[in-house]
Amino acid sequence: RLGLKTDFIGQKVFYYESVDSTQKIANDLSTENAPEGTLVIADEQTSGRGRMERKWHSPKGEGIWMSLLVRPEIPPQQAPQLTLLTAVAAVRAIEEAAGLTPVIKWPNDIMVNSKKIAGILTEMQAEADRIHSVIIGIGINVNQDRTDFPKELLGTATSLAIETGNGLPRSRIIQEFCAQFEKLYLLYLEKGFYPIKLLWESYARGIGSFMRARTYNGVIEGVALGITEDGVLKIESSDGTIHKIYSADIEFPLS
Ligand code: BTN
Repeated sequence: RLGLKTDFIGQKVFYYESVDSTQKIANDLSTENAPEGTLVIADEQTSGRGRMERKWHSPKGEGIWMSLLVRPEIPPQQAPQLTLLTAVAAVRAIEEAAGLTPVIKWPNDIMVNSKKIAGILTEMQAEADRIHSVIIGIGINVNQDRTDFPKELLGTATSLAIETGNGLPRSRIIQEFCAQFEKLYLLYLEKGFYPIKLLWESYARGIGSFMRARTYNGVIEGVALGITEDGVLKIESSDGTIHKIYSADIEFPLS
């Protein structure tokens, strides 16, 4: 149905009209030993989840709401690398399929014209030092027009339709995403994170600038030095302390 040119990513697709969250379904499928590359796609999510316990607005037919299951043999602390890999795949898919040039805001916000067009949420099942699966959730706003976004997202969210001025079939973007992801994932398994890190840095914005990071434990301000080998953000505050940021919302430049 999707006409994918991949070997394993998206070769097994579970499609739903309406679900609470594709993350939850992919999680259950993981427990049932679904193969690597399994993709769960929904037309609508009634409780789509975002990062930092937020909701992800997922109205019917307006976007790509999907979760991809992979089973890499890597230590659990390296799982954030896959978030960054996915961000690169999403940027490239949007470039190829829609002709836009998105940038990445750490860790995984995909931005066009300073507004968020796509987000990524990575969750993992692991026991002790072994990863059972990583579930990568990808949300891409495709067909919304300005009036379709809830008030709180006005001015901060956008869609492919708004940015290109015309609608796009969702299947074309999914195809392109799967192809890009598979290429990068195979490169990653063979060569490690370094080549992915270089690509990520070429699309990322804000490294070297002054940033404010709102974490669960408070606010950290300083210059973003870059990301570590594990994909964690490093910020140097004015007293010279280097903070490792695992999860946060970031703001830059400060006015
Ligand atoms: C973010 O906060 O930026 C991450 C958003 C991730 C949304 C996607 S949509 C498909 C998958 N299912 C969910 O419930 N969330 C992710």
